[in-house]
Parts: sequence; C-alpha cells; structure tokens
Amino acid sequence: MGRLDHKVAIVTGASSGIGRAIALGFAREGARVVCADIRKDARPEGYEEDRQKDTDEVIRGNGGDALFVRADVTRGQDMANLVTSAVEQYGRLDIMVNNAGVFTRLAPIHEKTEEEYDFTMNVNAKGVWNGCQQSIRQFLRQGDGGKIINIVSIAGIIGLANEPAYCASKGAAANLTRQLAIDYGPHRINVNAICPNFLTTAMCRPYYTDAAIRTTVEEATPLRRWGTPEEIVGPAVFLASADADYVTGSMLIVDGGYTAR
Ligand SMILES: NC(=O)c1ccc[n+]([C@@H]2O[C@H](COP(=O)([O-])OP(=O)(O)OC[C@H]3O[C@@H](n4cnc5c(N)ncnc54)[C@H](O)[C@@H]3O)[C@@H](O)[C@H]2O)c1
Repeated sequence: MGRLDHKVAIVTGASSGIGRAIALGFAREGARVVCADIRKDARPEGYEEDRQKDTDEVIRGNGGDALFVRADVTRGQDMANLVTSAVEQYGRLDIMVNNAGVFTRLAPIHEKTEEEYDFTMNVNAKGVWNGCQQSIRQFLRQGDGGKIINIVSIAGIIGLANEPAYCASKGAAANLTRQLAIDYGPHRINVNAICPNFLTTAMCRPYYTDAAIRTTVEEATPLRRWGTPEEIVGPAVFLASADADYVTGSMLIVDGGYTAR
C-alpha cells in the first residue's frame, strides 16, 4: 500500500530536476500525477540518467498513472486550465506542488537588469501565487481540504550572496506560504514549503561544475556535500500525506545543515 494511494497530485516543473523526482516519487506512493511544465522533455543539462524518457512516460512505464499538461505557471489562465484538466481526467485534486522555478545568474543588484528581476519574480513568486490560487479554489469546491507544497529554497529564509532577485522571489513565496496557512487552515487546506540548499539539477549545473563554487558550498554545508533531487522526495511525500495533517505554515528545511550555523 502506498502512502498516497487514491490521491491526485499536480506537480509544476515536473519535466526536470526536483519536480521530476517528486512526480516519480508520488507515483511510487500510489498517486495519480499530473505533470505540468512549459516543456515536456527534461532539460538536457540535468543529471537524470533516464532523461530521454519524459516524466509521465516513466510513470506509466512503471505501471503508474500520469498525464502531461503544458502549462506556464506565470499565466493564470494556464493554471486554471491545468486544474480543470486534472479534475476532468481524475475527478478531483488532493495535492498541489508548486515547484517550477528559475535562476538567472550570480550578480549583485547593481549589475542586475529589470528583465532579470521581472522574469525571476514572475516565475518564482507569481507562479506560486497562481498555483496556490487555482488549487485552493478547487479544494474549496470539493470541500474536504487539500495539501499544498511550495518548493521554496533556503534563499527564502536567509540572504545568499549575489542572488538578489532569487532571494526576493523566494522570500515572497515563503511568506505567502505562511499567510495562506492562516486563511485556509479552517478549511483543512495545509500549506507548507520545502527549503532545499544547492542540489544537483540542470538549474545548478553551472555552479556544480565550477570547482570553486562547488567547494564553497560543500564547506558551508555541515554534511559536506550537495544534495540530490531524490532527497527532496521523502520530505515532499511526508507533507503530502496524512502524516502531515497537523503541519501547516511550516518551512521544512532540507539543506544538509547549511542554515544551522
Ligand atoms: N536546484 C537547486 O539547487 C534548488 C535549490 C533550492 C530550491 N530550488 C527550487 O526548486 C525548484 C526546481 O528547481 P530545479 O533545480 O529542479 O530546476 P530545473 O531547472 O532543473 O527544473 C525546473 C523545471 O521547471 C520548468 N519551468 C521553468 N519555468 C516554468 C514555467 N514558467 N512554467 C512551468 N514550468 C516551468 C522547467 O522547464 C524545468 O523542467 C525551483 O523552484 C527552484 O528554485 C532548487
């Protein structure tokens, strides 16, 4: 028996990295998974060994149930259509994972462009807003609660050097998580965040392959290594499951101890 049997989940940014790992992990736990992304195939810079196969295909190949829906999290209408597709296919929605996110480049604010700020805020902050809004509307229609998991970052709770737009966007997503937990707790809608540090995904390849940056991160991390997307799966399954029924408004930090000092 899986911990997410009979549940219907949407995962945004499900084609690559953390979103892909969570989608596959949820399916292993018995969930039917709607994989949403702006692209169906995994980013080529990623570390997934089986990335030539799309996430929904891997799930079905393993005997699970999955659907791909193209959706841009920055567009409210796309996100409304995404929820409608999930409900049309599977009858309801139980879990929303707002994972899609972007990072442009390391630079201090005086070197950043307005376009970089707008792009980062649009995906990382407005995208989470859109996903929360549309899933909450569906949860309220159903009337029996729901679970939202926002993939934030340690950049949402501490400042990281040369990441001004990313930190601003993740800080917004973190505090939206807390705010929504307050408004929708009475409706049994749990809203939580996971805050990873640096993980081996396509997003971080330029930094993982830079020996100086890679070592700096390792030395600042008490567990002395980078994490993997698979290490976010267990925490996500926990927050999506009945084990977390009394957990809401929390920041689940999964960072090898980076923020402990
Ligand atoms: N990798 C890390 O070190 C790390 C650390 C902390 C937090 N995070 C966060 O985790 C999330 C996933 O990151 P990742 O490392 O797996 O990134 P990734 O770049 O490997 O994968 C992100 C996926 O999101 C999709 N995406 C991008 N913009 C989108 C949009 N507008 N609408 C829908 N999908 C879109 C991409 O196509 C891609 O498939 C992000 O929110 C990121 O900020 C990553």
